[in-house]
Amino acid sequence: MSTRPHILLGQTLGFTGDPFRDGPSAARHNSHGAVLIEQGLVTWTGPADQLVAPKDAQTTDYGDKLIMAGFVDAHVHYAQTAIIASWGKRLIDWLNDYTFPEESRFGDPDYAATIAARYFDLAQAHGTTTMCSYATIHPESVDAFFAEAQKRGLRALAGKTCMDRNAPDTLRDTAQSAYDDSKALLERWHGQDRLGYVISPRFSPTSTPDQLSALGALWAEHPDCLMQTHLSEQVEEIAWVRDLFPAARDYLDTYEAHGLLGAKGVYGHAIHLEPREKDRLKELGASLVHCPTSNTFIGSGLFDTAGLKSQGQTVGLATDTGGGSSFSMLRTMAAAYEVGQLTGTALHPSQLLWLATAGSAQALHLSDKVGNLAKGMEADLVVLDLASTPAIAQRAAQADDIWQAVFPTIMMGDDRAVADMWISGRQAPDD
Ligand code: GUN
Ligand code: ZN
Repeated sequence: MSTRPHILLGQTLGFTGDPFRDGPSAARHNSHGAVLIEQGLVTWTGPADQLVAPKDAQTTDYGDKLIMAGFVDAHVHYAQTAIIASWGKRLIDWLNDYTFPEESRFGDPDYAATIAARYFDLAQAHGTTTMCSYATIHPESVDAFFAEAQKRGLRALAGKTCMDRNAPDTLRDTAQSAYDDSKALLERWHGQDRLGYVISPRFSPTSTPDQLSALGALWAEHPDCLMQTHLSEQVEEIAWVRDLFPAARDYLDTYEAHGLLGAKGVYGHAIHLEPREKDRLKELGASLVHCPTSNTFIGSGLFDTAGLKSQGQTVGLATDTGGGSSFSMLRTMAAAYEVGQLTGTALHPSQLLWLATAGSAQALHLSDKVGNLAKGMEADLVVLDLASTPAIAQRAAQADDIWQAVFPTIMMGDDRAVADMWISGRQAPDD
């Protein structure tokens, strides 16, 4: 790895606070900014004319392109890459008809490796530098994900999806094998390079109470790991959980009763929460993940980002591919904006960009490492062309400030807006 310092010039954007709390002034924008990268870290960023450049530094000038933290996708199913955009089902039928048959293929390590490479190609092409993924029940699928992420030098999180009921025979483990396999994978991968293991019961309907307890025990033995699952995504699912767990106070209680609720818990969707569930999640500082393209695509409902943030909840943003209909965190921000409009709040571009970077990093307990352009952070960066298509360019040309300049890219941008990317201080190779 080259140890020469590297200077990037362009517009720069980072955060000194949370724009949901502090407003747009929580963002630090420089129209002529600079980023100094040394040994894989950002060691300085600010106005270019204040940079004291090391003598041996190389420079890349991005003109008026925008340099910011790479996107952090806080909830994705890499193994669903090949079934993205499957038509016409609601959650339970979508799982049974599309997802489970596809996930059944991941016991084959070659297939798992092919899809892992395809997924990372797509995620990186869209500017995502960190992702937290579910794999399938097969340990091979976890190995394939981490091997590919490691090869690319990414900071990435994942875990074996555990299911011991209400799934096809080919996709069921047991309470004991879920514990044993998850533990072996955790010991193999957690803390290797930039990788982290996430204990991953799929959701209460596909785990017996015994399996939930076994995974709760594993989490108690490894409290530094995250635990991810799904929560209150769709009304039919919630009714099913009520039938399966008649003694539970609510959906969240099915996790809490088995040791699967805590500050390092990451709960996907969390749309239809009861007041008690919100209070408990807030009290513990657990993370909620907004998956707006999935929630509209599968018809699940409207996550109230502004309301939940104003209550002090920890909220990240995610594609939820392949329930989500895009690999792009730009498209995901656009969907979050549209859902915000439908729930009564126009989220500000600073809030959308924060959710897709620092907010997701916070939800994944990675705030000290990724998700912000600031001194000391790992140099995982995306360089956005704010005029990547004629439609975007003509709108951005009318902009009076950075927010008007970036909003057309948020709403209409795709992989063409991703001009360049840096991973751990190295320029990512072109595809
Ligand atoms: N709930 C349980 N599993 C899944 C999944 O794979 N995708 C979505 N969107 N919801 C789920
Ligand atoms: Zn999911």
